[in-house]
Order: sequence, then C-alpha cells, then structure tokens
Amino acid sequence: MLSREKETAAYSLESVVARALTRAQGDLSGELAAYIPELARVPPDAFGVAVASVGGDVAAAGDTEVPFTIQSISKALAYCLALDVVGTPTVLSHVGVEPSGDAFNAIVFDPGTNRPFNPMVNAGAITVTGLLAGALGAEAFDFLLDRFSAAAGRPLSFDADVYRSEAETGHRNRGIAHLLKCSGALAADVDATLDLYFRQCSILVTASDLARIGATLANIGENPGTGAAVFAVEAVRHTLSVMFTCGMYNFAGNWAFDVGVPAKSGVGGGILGVVNRQLGIATYSPRLDAKGNSVRGIAAFQELAEDLGLHVFDPTNRGSALLGAFKG
Ligand code: DON
Repeated sequence: MLSREKETAAYSLESVVARALTRAQGDLSGELAAYIPELARVPPDAFGVAVASVGGDVAAAGDTEVPFTIQSISKALAYCLALDVVGTPTVLSHVGVEPSGDAFNAIVFDPGTNRPFNPMVNAGAITVTGLLAGALGAEAFDFLLDRFSAAAGRPLSFDADVYRSEAETGHRNRGIAHLLKCSGALAADVDATLDLYFRQCSILVTASDLARIGATLANIGENPGTGAAVFAVEAVRHTLSVMFTCGMYNFAGNWAFDVGVPAKSGVGGGILGVVNRQLGIATYSPRLDAKGNSVRGIAAFQELAEDLGLHVFDPTNRGSALLGAFKG
C-alpha cells in the first residue's frame, strides 16, 4: 500500500500533467496548418501541457514556454470582451449561439436570421471583431492585446510575419467578410475588421500563458495571479457556454462527450480549456487533424479529463482533491 506521501506524489497535478504529456507524446499524425504559409514553417514537434489553478499555481510539462500564435482561441476572448464593450443584446443581434456542425471556415449562415451561427466559427468571429473595430476604432488592437495580456498576467506581443502571411493570403476570410457586410451582419468597415481579425489571430502566447488565461476565465474574469479584473462576470458565463457547444467546430459533440469542458482550439496548435471555478488547461502541439484541431492536444485533454474526472457531468471530479496540495 502507498504511504500518504507517495499517494500525494502519484497524484500531484505535476505528475498528472506529465503523465498526460507522456501518453500523448508518440502520436505524430496530423499536418501543420499550411493554408497560412507562415504557419507551415513552425517546428512541428513541440508539445506542451500546462494547467493553472484559480489559486494561482501552474503545473507544466514539455514545451510550455514555446511561443505560438493564438489564432482562433482569440475568438473566445474577443467575444468575451465584445459582450462587455457593446453589450450582450447588440452582440446577439449580430451573431447567434447555435452550433453549426460545420468547419471553422464554412461559408454558411443561419437561414432564418442571416446571422453567423456562432462566434467560434470564422464568420461569427469576424462579425464580433467588427463590433470591436466599430466601437473602439484605431484603439481596438491595443485594447485586445492589453486585455489578453492582463488575462495571461504578462505583456504579450504579436507575430508580424504570421499577420502579414494571413493578411496576404486570407481570401476566404475576405470573401466571408464581404458577404457579412452585404447581409448587414457586419456593421464596421470590411478592411479595418479583417486587419484587426488577422492581428488578433497573430498574438503570441505560450501554453503557460494560455493556461493562465484559462484560469482567469475559470476565476470568473479575475486573474488569480495578479488580481486584475479582466473579463466581466456575465460575459464569462456566455463565453464558456459557446466554448462548450461550439469551440471545437465540427468536433464539438465528440469533445463534449469525451472531455466535457468548455474549450477553444486554434490552427496555431493550441487548445484552451476551462474547468469552471477550478482550472485553466492548455496544450500546444502544432500538428492538426482534418478539422483543424491539435492531434496531441486532444489526446492530452482526454487523458487529463479521465485522470482528474474533469468532465462537467463526471460524478467524481477527482481533480478537486488535488487543488489544496497543488504542487504535490
Ligand atoms: O481565420 C483563420 O483562418 C485563422 N486566422 C484562424 C483559424 C483557426 O485557428 C481555426 N482553428 N482551428
């Protein structure tokens, strides 16, 4: 039988995180997101897993300090901020909250309303970014960078090469933005909106940053490390709701079934997950599956959810017991 000390060590969050990394490590399937040329140049083998608690601690394994572009994970944060900046009713009048079951870049709108289905797919995210561009004008990018940084607890920067690469080649997103403008869903200027969208997608984070951002969401908008008030309480609830139903695109149903926490993926290779009132979880591994989600990221989340009982409908939520002795 294990002594109490050994039991704690075997189940410290550090060891659980390390185990998730080890178990998922060997799967080298998937491809880099080559449709943004600059993303095809990132080293493919980096892999990191980080978990941050609402108590301010972080457990990390692997390449958790390697910077990568946040990409679509920015959609969740921009949505959370837009709900506060322009108000929930205005946001809802432009973008729905219904899972589309379609790919992230699908050119599909709700036939009843002509609005994008939800803020996690590109059409919805571009619309949300347009609301911020319209409300904040030239200050909008600095505002987003400042809020993302406050959520992470350190000053973030952005990758100008990835921004330029996407701005030069993002014809599909340009097409989507013009259709949104035509239907009236997008109120702001098309070029200003796309410029802001490409910039917000190019913000650089590490897996540790993302885990801390997740812990800020888990802590209902207040950064547990710095105490900064970053997101509005009501906005966090709405954001976690759409992350839960729509954050993994046409994999969202499988994700809810298997992992069961609100999450958002990005084609840069990151996945952000939130366990409400407990944890922010982040993975980084840039090889993606056909749906644009990180292969090893999904595997690591599955391991963590299983090991810690994180699924929202799991009767045990075993991980809670670790939070008191976070560093094991
Ligand atoms: O809009 C795009 O194509 C990218 N900047 C972001 C897409 C993305 O991250 C989708 N996520 N899996």
